[in-house]
Parts: sequence; structure tokens; C-alpha cells
Amino acid sequence: MWKGSTVLVTGGAGFVGSNLVDGLLAAGANVRVLDNLSGGSEENLAHCVNDIELHIADLKDPAAVDKAVKGCQSIFHMGANASVPRSVDDRKNDFESNVVGTYNIADSLIKHNVERILYASTAAAYGTPQYTPVDEKHPLDPVSPYGATKLCSERLLFGYSQVFDFDLTVVRIFNTYGPRQRHYVAYDLMMKLAKDPTKLEVLGSGKQLRDYCYVDDMVAGLMFAAERATNPGEVFNISGGRTVSIRELVSLIMDTLNLKDTEVTYGAPSWKGDIDILSGDVSKINDAGWKPTISIEEGLRRLAIELGLIEDSAEKRCVNG
Ligand SMILES: NC(=O)c1ccc[n+]([C@@H]2O[C@H](COP(=O)([O-])OP(=O)(O)OC[C@H]3O[C@@H](n4cnc5c(N)ncnc54)[C@H](O)[C@@H]3O)[C@@H](O)[C@H]2O)c1
Repeated sequence: MWKGSTVLVTGGAGFVGSNLVDGLLAAGANVRVLDNLSGGSEENLAHCVNDIELHIADLKDPAAVDKAVKGCQSIFHMGANASVPRSVDDRKNDFESNVVGTYNIADSLIKHNVERILYASTAAAYGTPQYTPVDEKHPLDPVSPYGATKLCSERLLFGYSQVFDFDLTVVRIFNTYGPRQRHYVAYDLMMKLAKDPTKLEVLGSGKQLRDYCYVDDMVAGLMFAAERATNPGEVFNISGGRTVSIRELVSLIMDTLNLKDTEVTYGAPSWKGDIDILSGDVSKINDAGWKPTISIEEGLRRLAIELGLIEDSAEKRCVNG
């Protein structure tokens, strides 16, 4: 389906977006990227810059968006403020990038008869879980500006898809990690330990539960979900499918880095809008045919290699199931 087709990846210079660009290029797509480099970087695309059409532009700029959208068959809309704390500190940018930006994408998509769009939403759209694991039917009550603006865009695209002729998939992404991610928990913990392997201070109680999905699995899941875009659009959760506590993650990271005697302390306050349990029910997309293949142990090992913290000594591949 991707071979020879023109695909726009908004936010394609970011962490998930740039890995998705690699996946689409490998599948034979002609890839365009629109990104304002506020969170991503050109370095993330340095290896493929000659193989893509790069639009360094802002989602808030309708003319720039229109230029990037015109002539595409598909859009992966990944571009957004992707940070909960930033959505609290700079609500204007969060609203304008995440909601007005999506409006601009949708407006051009309708104008140019783009066939399909995948919207990268978030588990934060659910808010504080009423039950876990959270399935796609869970109530949607976000508890942060970020969760609210992402949900707003989901609903906007769904509403438009009802009156205009395009196919939509919404993916609610749970915690993703891996190469080119330069913040958030797995990266932060590894870098703190690289700086001082004798002690580690962890935000929160360490009892928060999360699902971690390795980015290659996420890319495969996003492409799989986009291939199933329909009208009316389907919503899929995508996560790694294994819930671990932050304490367990710390222990897995210490094993990855071969550390035994680190003094670990918990309890420094977490940020406003953080959620204690983020565990996703992925049976809907599993039943449709996608499953993650990379275990958390193997994913952390690959991340540590990318960060230069361990050597790629053995070709050790742990596969789930
Ligand atoms: N990584 C995760 O665990 C996770 C979890 C849930 C949802 N998501 C969603 O997945 C998508 C990608 O997230 P990520 O982790 O790769 O974050 P990221 O910050 O690395 O990528 C987002 C990209 O969007 C770009 N961008 C931001 N505002 C823009 C604007 N106004 N105009 C143009 N480009 C703009 C940034 O420069 C960046 O390259 C986001 O939509 C995010 O909400 C990610």
C-alpha cells in the first residue's frame, strides 16, 4: 500500500515521527516531513535527508501546511506539543500546535482530497483510569491541557470524517521509548545513571505503572493501523502490552547497564497532570493482527547501545511470547 505513494509525516523530525519516516521509506513510500524543529531535530533525519522532502514549517501556518499536504495520498499526523509539563507552562502553544495545527491539516486534507489520515493521539486522553487495563471504550476525561488538546483533535477529525470523504484511524499511544528519544523516563534514568552510577533519585513513589512500547514496534503498529483506516474512523490503543512499575523499570535499567550497588531513592514530587497508572488494553489491535515483538529487556539494551552506555557485544534478541 505504501510503495510509490506520497505520505506526509507531520512531526517527522521528532522521536516517533523520524522512526516512522524510516519505516515508510523502507516500505517504498515517497515521504514528506513537516516539522518546526521545536521538539525534534534535523539530526534525527540526517541519514535520510536526501530521500525525503523536508518542510521546516509550523503547523500553525495554514499556507505552509497546505503546501506540504497538496499531492499526498496519506498523512500521519504526529506533530504536536508532546509534553504534559509544557502544556501546563505554555498553554497557548499547546492549544495552537495541537488543535489549530490539526484544523489546518484537516482543512488542507479536505481541500486536496487526501485519502487517509492517521492521528497520533495519546493515552492521556483517558485521564485517571476508572479501571485498568484501559480499553478504547474507557471514558475520556483528560486531566492535563495536553490530554485535552489531543482529545479535541481526535474528535475534530472524527467529526470532519463524517461529512467529508476521507478515512481516519486514531491511535492512542502509550509510553514509547527507544533511539532518538531525548527525554522521558527510560532516557532520563539511563542518563542520570551514566552521570553518577552510585546514586539515583527517581521522581514519584516508583509505584506508578506504565506500559512501554519499543519504537520499532510502535512504527509497525502505526503503519498497520493506518492501513486499516476507515470511515467512520476506528480508535486503537497501541502499547507494549506489559505493565511494569517504575521500580521494576529502574531494576531492568540497572541490569542493562550492569549496575548492582546504586543507591536508589524515591519520592521527589512528580509533575502536575501525571497519572499513576497508564496500562493499555491492546486486545483490539492484537485481534486485528498486530502484536509487539520486542521485549522491554531487549528494547532497553538497544537504547543503551544507541546512547553509547554499553557495547553491542552479543546479537541477543529477546522476543515477547
Ligand atoms: N512518545 C510517547 O510516548 C507518546 C505517547 C503518547 C502520544 N504520543 C504522540 O506521538 C506524537 C509524537 O511524539 P514524540 O514522542 O515523537 O514527540 P516529539 O516531541 O519528539 O515529536 C513531536 C514533533 O512535532 C514537532 N512539532 C511540535 N509543534 C509543532 C508545530 N507547531 N509545527 C510543526 N511541528 C511541530 C516537534 O518539533 C517534534 O519534532 C505526538 O503527537 C505525541 O502527542 C507520544
